[in-house]
Amino acid sequence: MIQLSFFLVLILPFVACQVTEFVSIDCGGRSNYTDPNTGLKWISDAGLVRHGKVVEVASPNGLQYQSRRDFPADGKKYCYTLSTIERRRYLVRATFQYAKSDSGDSFPKFQLYLDATMWSTITIQDSARIYIEEMIIRAPSSSVNVCLCCALTGSPFISSLELRPLNLSMYATDYEDDFFLKVGARINFGASSKDVVRYPDDPYDRIWSSDQEKRQNYLVGVAPGTESISTSQNIDTRAREYPPLKVMQTAAVGTKGWLSYRLDLEGFPANARAYAYLAEIEDLGNNETRKFTMQHPHVPGSGNVIINIAENANGSYTLYEPSYMNISLDFVFSFSLVKTWDSTRGPLLNAIEISKYVQTIPKTDSKDTTALKALRSKSQPSNWTSEEGDPCKPISWEWVACSSKMPPRITKISSFKCLNFISSEHIVERGCNVNQGSGDKTTLTAERYCILWLDGNSLTGPIPDLSSLTGLTILHLENNKLTGPLPSYLSNLPSLQELYVQNNSLSGAIDQELLARKMIFDYDGNPDLKPIRQRKTNFQLTIGISIGACVLLGLFLLASLLLLNILQRKQSHLNNNKKCSGIFSDDDLEGSFHITLSELEEATENFSKKIGKGSFGPVYYGKMKDGQEVAVKILADASNHGAHQFVNEVALLSRIHHKNLVHLIGCCEEAHQRILVYEYMHNGTLCDFIHGSLNQEHLDWISRLSIAEDAAKGLEYLHSGCNPSIIHRDVKTSNILLDVNMRAKVSDFGLSKQTDENLTHVSSVACGTLGYLDPEYYGNQQLTEKSDVYSFGVVLLELISGRKPFSLEEYGAEWSIVHWARSLIRKGDVTSVADPSLAGNFKIESLWRIAEVAILSIEPHGVSRPKMQEIVLAIQDAIKIEKSSFRRSTKSSATNPHMKSISIDLESSDVSNGCIIPSAR
Ligand SMILES: *[C@@H]1O[C@H](CO)[C@@H](O)[C@H](O)[C@H]1NC(C)=O
Ligand SMILES: *[C@@H]1O[C@H](CO)[C@@H](O)[C@H](O)[C@H]1NC(C)=O
Ligand SMILES: *[C@@H]1O[C@H](CO)[C@@H](O)[C@H](O)[C@H]1NC(C)=O
Ligand SMILES: *[C@@H]1O[C@H](CO)[C@@H](O)[C@H](O)[C@H]1NC(C)=O
Ligand SMILES: *[C@@H]1O[C@H](CO)[C@@H](O)[C@H](O)[C@H]1NC(C)=O
Ligand SMILES: *[C@@H]1O[C@H](CO)[C@@H](O)[C@H](O)[C@H]1NC(C)=O
Ligand SMILES: *[C@@H]1O[C@H](CO)[C@@H](O)[C@H](O)[C@H]1NC(C)=O
Repeated sequence: MIQLSFFLVLILPFVACQVTEFVSIDCGGRSNYTDPNTGLKWISDAGLVRHGKVVEVASPNGLQYQSRRDFPADGKKYCYTLSTIERRRYLVRATFQYAKSDSGDSFPKFQLYLDATMWSTITIQDSARIYIEEMIIRAPSSSVNVCLCCALTGSPFISSLELRPLNLSMYATDYEDDFFLKVGARINFGASSKDVVRYPDDPYDRIWSSDQEKRQNYLVGVAPGTESISTSQNIDTRAREYPPLKVMQTAAVGTKGWLSYRLDLEGFPANARAYAYLAEIEDLGNNETRKFTMQHPHVPGSGNVIINIAENANGSYTLYEPSYMNISLDFVFSFSLVKTWDSTRGPLLNAIEISKYVQTIPKTDSKDTTALKALRSKSQPSNWTSEEGDPCKPISWEWVACSSKMPPRITKISSFKCLNFISSEHIVERGCNVNQGSGDKTTLTAERYCILWLDGNSLTGPIPDLSSLTGLTILHLENNKLTGPLPSYLSNLPSLQELYVQNNSLSGAIDQELLARKMIFDYDGNPDLKPIRQRKTNFQLTIGISIGACVLLGLFLLASLLLLNILQRKQSHLNNNKKCSGIFSDDDLEGSFHITLSELEEATENFSKKIGKGSFGPVYYGKMKDGQEVAVKILADASNHGAHQFVNEVALLSRIHHKNLVHLIGCCEEAHQRILVYEYMHNGTLCDFIHGSLNQEHLDWISRLSIAEDAAKGLEYLHSGCNPSIIHRDVKTSNILLDVNMRAKVSDFGLSKQTDENLTHVSSVACGTLGYLDPEYYGNQQLTEKSDVYSFGVVLLELISGRKPFSLEEYGAEWSIVHWARSLIRKGDVTSVADPSLAGNFKIESLWRIAEVAILSIEPHGVSRPKMQEIVLAIQDAIKIEKSSFRRSTKSSATNPHMKSISIDLESSDVSNGCIIPSAR
């Protein structure tokens, strides 16, 4: 006795070293401990789950059954997360002992999931029994979740959770990419007691149940003459599954010539992997044989295969593993082993193992999960941040809505009610794609585009602390019952671009800093909120056209497609006197869309404030009756050709809403005049800023990047947000306009132009089209999105260099910025390309990122050029790089004197005394 325990003490530390990878969680356990029976270390789950309550129970079983953890039966799921090594095989085991039946309580019945895959329905019928669920998996990722949910009766609970790594290719199957193996039965025959065999007898800690155990529908119908035998001799178990020696050393033999058993397999009928473990453990004489057949009623021909263990295994005391990799089994599993006529001994069976194939259900798309985690990590711990497991499966988090696709995608996030974490671009895209019946483009993007919708929720009290959401871009708090002042953190949210707090009961003075910020800020309907300065209501109209309109975009687009069709057929019938209202007679927009000539004459004071000259004619500044500022564009040439353009432009432009596209407000066709009315862009064209009279208004690198990003997004939207996609055809710095906040919008898209017309324009316009023209298009007249990409590449080069796209003086024989920049950048000399007026105030990596993508964009062949989407990403990269090094530069651009003058301009709504001469079309 003493010797034995001495031996144990010696051996246990050695074994413990081998099993450091075992994870053993005592659910509801009060402390960590080492189980004296097994030497395994158990940890309490106290630090692993936030929910549930510990229920102490008195159990005759091991330490881990002295308590359990009960979870609320509330329609949510509760999960444990286990770390795994991807593609390694594991045994995952959960055990359940209720151990207490309060009088009148019905026993619990609930579901168990492994990741998104249904593992088992746990139905407790016997409070003393330990229900064991085992799943053999090849880990799909670096962690797996074990979740409880969906109680039908009682509350979900769990007693223990174990993770056991398996060695090498144990339990590998042909199906493991798509299936887990749920263990149905693992039985040790000829066992000496009712006890299970497990660790340390089985180094992998599988649980081998005893054939002596008495349980309903478990190993019944045992054949007469069934006896147990055992040996103490060593057995060579080096086959695939390494059954433990202790299990192989015992066996049942049918002394009367046959063995038979029947048992219920939970969760069957199903396809299964079935193994028998056999080893000859009796010493047979020379004149003796043991030959038998394995008979299974549902496997045709199973009785024809004669087993002679010693022969099959090439020797006694050696493992032989006959197996079925994929066999269809019924709920009631009955089998028998029958001696052949010429065999002297009856059949022998050491162990069997049967596992059901369980098809794995995909988890939520990992991109979405990552984005959600990022959002959560930015928030204070609370109920909505503490939900565990997969966001969508088996039950989605309370604040998340998911698509029904496989794998699921997140369609909506609503913590308080409707928290939308989808970028505005994606909302737009989704709107557009309604026509195609596809929501594919709905993706979550990084926290950079976090949009929080908390509007119309009857929120009361002060504005909640959202300061941890540093990625917050757009915040909707309108139409609530919020009170108190605007919290100061709002002015410090680095990415905030739009803030809506209308129709609340907020009070106090508005932070000067908040008003000075470059962003949309709407606080109407808060009588007690005191702005520092008087503010005109039209502010909202001028800028706020972007996102709200997106909701209707799907409809608009459908309508516009239909209309375009009709228009194209009708074009030949159009006569010059026809009014817009006639063209759009079916259109709801008609009323507000059509503007009469007299209204325009009034707005522009008889076309007196000329602010520029567009490709088609002069552009005038105007102010509508409601105070809205507009750019009025007169189409000079009223030829048929012009009519075609006019119709095109009107039909397309009016229906396309994107915050980076200049919005067409209305049109007028009267007295042989065709006039388009656009939203007024206070800061004119990018061309003027880089090359023109405003050159002294220095644009720093980060401002250039954000202008590039805006313009790229506008083009991306035209190319991929709309169906059919729209090719701009005339991307150039003079078609990129800047609004009062220096946000860029693309104008003049959807215009059909002839190449030769473009060329004729060159001489007269300083920022001509020639330098932007895609050589491939010039060659073969095939217009694609990649032609816009080429032109945009030239725009990027202008932003980098501050040089004109085309100039004999600057580039000499090379004549174009493309050749000049390409040769320098290829030499690795990006600093020579950089605009001297930047005075080195940029991070070289950021400049490189733009230079690279610009050079790719001006590749001679369209196929080699990136898509606008990739360009957007590159620019965002560059911005990230730039911001990471120059934290101060964003601030300095907000406080630079030029920006300040814009803010004043905005508040006074008066351009005439502004320092900027508006020059947009
Ligand atoms: C139990 O062990 C785990 C893991 O080693 C540890 O994180 C936890 O703090 C321990 N708990 C107690 C109560 O000691
Ligand atoms: C796993 O396999 C390796 C190689 O066969 C062997 O050396 C090792 O002992 C095995 N580990 C266990 C726990 O059986
Ligand atoms: C098993 O065999 C059945 C019938 O041939 C087949 O449908 C199934 O895909 C196979 N594999 C699994 C894992 O069930
Ligand atoms: C086998 O041989 C032994 C003696 O060598 C004999 O006692 C035994 O009865 C024989 N068994 C059979 C089945 O013939
Ligand atoms: C079978 O065992 C014998 C001796 O035990 C050995 O000589 C022979 O090579 C083995 N055959 C195979 C196929 O392993
Ligand atoms: C958080 O959950 C607990 C328990 O489910 C509940 O009592 C509490 O009201 C919840 N808190 C919030 C803010 O919903
Ligand atoms: C504010 O409330 C008024 C009256 O209920 C409503 O007409 C208006 O649309 C609301 N404003 C916003 C921005 O929802």
